[in-house]
Amino acid sequence: MREIEFKNTKEKVVLKFFDRTSDIFNDLEGKKCFFICDANVLSAHPAVTTWLDESKAIKILLDHPEAQKNLESYKKIIEALKVNSFTRKDYLIGLGGGATTDLAGFVAATYMRGMRFIQIPTSLLGQVDASVGGKTAINFDGIKNFVGSFYNPEQIFINTEFLSSLNEQEFLNGLAEVIKHAIISSEESLNEIFNEKSAIVAKEPETLSKIIDNSIAVKESIVSEDFNEAGKRKFLNFGHTFAHGIEYANRKQPILHGHAVVIGMLMASTYSEHKGMLDAVDLEKIKKVIGSFNYNFSNINLDVETIVEGMKSDKKNQSEKIALILLQGIGNPVLHEEGNIENLTNFIRDFAENFEK
Ligand SMILES: NC(=O)c1ccc[n+]([C@@H]2O[C@H](COP(=O)([O-])OP(=O)(O)OC[C@H]3O[C@@H](n4cnc5c(N)ncnc54)[C@H](O)[C@@H]3O)[C@@H](O)[C@H]2O)c1
Repeated sequence: MREIEFKNTKEKVVLKFFDRTSDIFNDLEGKKCFFICDANVLSAHPAVTTWLDESKAIKILLDHPEAQKNLESYKKIIEALKVNSFTRKDYLIGLGGGATTDLAGFVAATYMRGMRFIQIPTSLLGQVDASVGGKTAINFDGIKNFVGSFYNPEQIFINTEFLSSLNEQEFLNGLAEVIKHAIISSEESLNEIFNEKSAIVAKEPETLSKIIDNSIAVKESIVSEDFNEAGKRKFLNFGHTFAHGIEYANRKQPILHGHAVVIGMLMASTYSEHKGMLDAVDLEKIKKVIGSFNYNFSNINLDVETIVEGMKSDKKNQSEKIALILLQGIGNPVLHEEGNIENLTNFIRDFAENFEK
């Protein structure tokens, strides 16, 4: 087991890398724990179910985590914590993908004004993104992450064994954020992903641990400088404004967020080059890295007017301008407030016409 303490977070947050799932549970021995679990993860990892059954831990299972990341689940969990006399000093543990850990985080943040909290993310997206940075949330009235808070777990347990059961498209969904963290941090990180692509796709544990570790370090360093998203944290939205537009254009047949982010990153990089901010060589490198993974874009709708409509409603926009994170180089993201919507629309039209699905 390898242990890293986040350097700059206000509260102590410890990241632990485990080689085996069983070691995670040795670490929890003797603690009073309430688990919020993704049922799909338990089905795929029977040893975890056995441990939970043998321990005195109480658990609630989520069969459809994203659909259950809501007020009803929140209430049910708060009631169960109360009935079982959990106090602030006991542990709430989120074990699952980002939907599960977001819900768990929101419960932990608010039960008795905050209880002890551990994240055990099991999807790649959860490991490199959702469980890091302290954002917790539930969906409300059909609006994603409408109710939430900032609350850090005291520990985050990472074990790449969990990823063995994640399907390819979900894995690529998380990999989009790994690629994003590399693009906004350094050319070296991006080269590493390219050089290790076969080992990444083969889910080779040592390579995955290294890539996940680096990716978390990028997010942690940005978040620690800007926990409440007043400045630098916006760089984590690289590719995301375009992606929100793409998701909006595909809302009737939703696509995975990470797949929209990948196209969004290609759009943002190409737009940066178009504006003379990014070298053509760097753009080619970004395209080459993304193109080396098996993203399937064949069913994605790139209707220009709808994409722009979706981008206009992005909550990060100020007044009539569209807030974009562009690149002045790999590892050098900048905030750009685009006021010329006609230019942007023409660019997206051109991009969509030339995009090879
Ligand atoms: N808090 C944050 O900063 C933050 C950041 C990004 C995303 N999020 C949130 O995270 C969620 C997306 O995360 P996600 O992609 O992990 O979604 P998810 O939790 O819905 O998991 C995706 C699918 O993978 C399954 N799964 C998870 N781990 C598995 C495993 N090891 N083996 C087999 N199947 C597994 C789940 O059951 C689900 O079907 C969204 O709700 C999003 O809002 C939060």
